[in-house]
Amino acid sequence: MRRLAAILCLFLLVVAAGLAQQTQEKKEPVPAQAPANLVIPPEEAKRENPVKPTEASIADGKKMFGYQCAMCHGEKGDGKSELGETMKLTMKDYTDPAALKEFTDGTLFYILEKGKGKMPGQEGRMSANQKWNMINYIRALAKKSAEAKTAPPPKPE
Ligand code: HEC
Repeated sequence: MRRLAAILCLFLLVVAAGLAQQTQEKKEPVPAQAPANLVIPPEEAKRENPVKPTEASIADGKKMFGYQCAMCHGEKGDGKSELGETMKLTMKDYTDPAALKEFTDGTLFYILEKGKGKMPGQEGRMSANQKWNMINYIRALAKKSAEAKTAPPPKPE
């Protein structure tokens, strides 16, 4: 009985940590963290997004983002979420065009796969296509707000 309780506790801990790798690492008391200083290999950074940012791609990215990412990155991708606050995460605002200016699509993809700091890697959880769709969606957020800013103000009637 004690053993069962211990196993249960351990399991709850792993779930609480919200780790994607939980299936592989159930037995580890201290689950491995995603690297805080993730080094992006140059060939990965140069990788181009093979999926065109069509409406369908962005819509799929938005849907997946809502399921898998919004709990930390915010429903609007602006980095505002309850879990983010609870976990004291420092999140970027993807609706700010400056936020990911320095990041190539390949870099974003690599971070998505491997995880970074408190963000669990998504490797194997979704197809590559779904990940590229999410990157298209994130890019579209910045583009939309940039367009809104540069649009001429509505004419006074
Ligand atoms: C547990 C909370 C959490 C979840 C879930 C999560 N992320 Fe993150 N994500 C983070 C944190 C924290 C960072 C910043 C990591 C760092 O720089 O140390 C980050 C970083 C990123 C980055 C790199 C650019 C940046 O903002 O620094 C991308 C792209 C990203 N996340 C996309 C996603 C996508 C897409 C999903 C859904 C599949 C997702 N994340 C799920 C917490 C999360």
